[in-house]
Amino acid sequence: MEKIKIGLFGFGVVGQGIYRVIQRAKNAHAEIVRVCVRDLSKPRSVEFGPELLTDNPDDILDNPDIDLIVEVIDNADASYSIVTRALSKGIPVVSGNKAMIARNLPELIDLQRRNNTALLYDASSCGSIPVIRNLEEYYDNDLLLEVKGILNGSSNYILSRVFDHNEPYDAALRRAQELGFAESDPSFDIEGFDSLFKLIIITVHALGVYVKPEDVFTYGISTIHDSDIRYAREKGVKIKLVAQVVKVSDEYFTMFVMPEFVFPSRYIYSVDDEYNGVVIRGECYDRQFMFGKGAGSLPTASSILSDIMARRHDYRYEYKKMSYLDRPAYTTDITLRVYVRYTVSNIPAILPFSHIHEQYISADSNYVIGDIKLSDLIRHRAALSAPDIFLADIPTFFTDRDD
Ligand code: HSE
Repeated sequence: MEKIKIGLFGFGVVGQGIYRVIQRAKNAHAEIVRVCVRDLSKPRSVEFGPELLTDNPDDILDNPDIDLIVEVIDNADASYSIVTRALSKGIPVVSGNKAMIARNLPELIDLQRRNNTALLYDASSCGSIPVIRNLEEYYDNDLLLEVKGILNGSSNYILSRVFDHNEPYDAALRRAQELGFAESDPSFDIEGFDSLFKLIIITVHALGVYVKPEDVFTYGISTIHDSDIRYAREKGVKIKLVAQVVKVSDEYFTMFVMPEFVFPSRYIYSVDDEYNGVVIRGECYDRQFMFGKGAGSLPTASSILSDIMARRHDYRYEYKKMSYLDRPAYTTDITLRVYVRYTVSNIPAILPFSHIHEQYISADSNYVIGDIKLSDLIRHRAALSAPDIFLADIPTFFTDRDD
């Protein structure tokens, strides 16, 4: 069998991981022939010949011997330019760049169709867990009700260290960076945007609907405080950063990213460290749970290798659900129960709760638990981003669920 010749963009944590797994996977019949990097002189932990690296993208994009491009750089604009150029030339691409994909998916789908080529990106969402291809192929029916889970390894790692090991937040974040889980700008991880981008991609493959990232309520963990952790411990729950897309009726679905109080009976309660966990709920099969490493060099590289192998067999996403007759529409007109901790901001005056269940006021911190429309959280997101506020979802929305 002829070896598939790969041009690789990016030789950081994931890029070097791909180099390693391709060397290890003899049956892949794949070979990295050129690697484009920003800095040729940067030290790297794998051994390679002097002709491998280039800093000129054209050496890959204009090379007629290259069959497939793998793109794992962490700059979304540069990634967009490489991927759109490659697809326009009919070159198939495997990418892990969730920000770029989530922001541009309609155009990227169109480019694949017009140029009769493929963009595969299972590695973009949940590292080693094959969530995209499963949603696309196995769950190709309209019985899917919900996809919910922990989609970001770094924030989960930080919360685990803080919650279970009493480590300081900043030290846990530094460690997530050292271990290569965090984005180069870790605010993407801790403010929930990395989870959001993955959720946008998942929603296209789960329900066949593209929602713009800016239309989705996203709240991260950066303002979590000892008092929140104390409160959660007292209640016997953990705080996890959870992303979810949920059908709320036959006609509508909703989606959001928010810290959540997770009860011990839920599958995701035991998803710790850099692991991700995804619960898929459907009309006929109740729940299924996928668990695995969501970040890191080799787990992500293994997912890239799987896409490379799939492409050997001409696999492409068909986006079948986007042409379903009855696709649900996105709504934010749903009521959530949230915990909001605050010190200086006057949360009960700012947020239009329809019902307040619990309120606590003390010298150093206050909280309120109340019911509020998701659309109102979106309307007040600027106020909610104040550093003295932390917000978490209390999942009573579907009280009969056990995920
Ligand atoms: N920064 C990401 C995470 C890497 O922590 O999950 C994997 O997408």
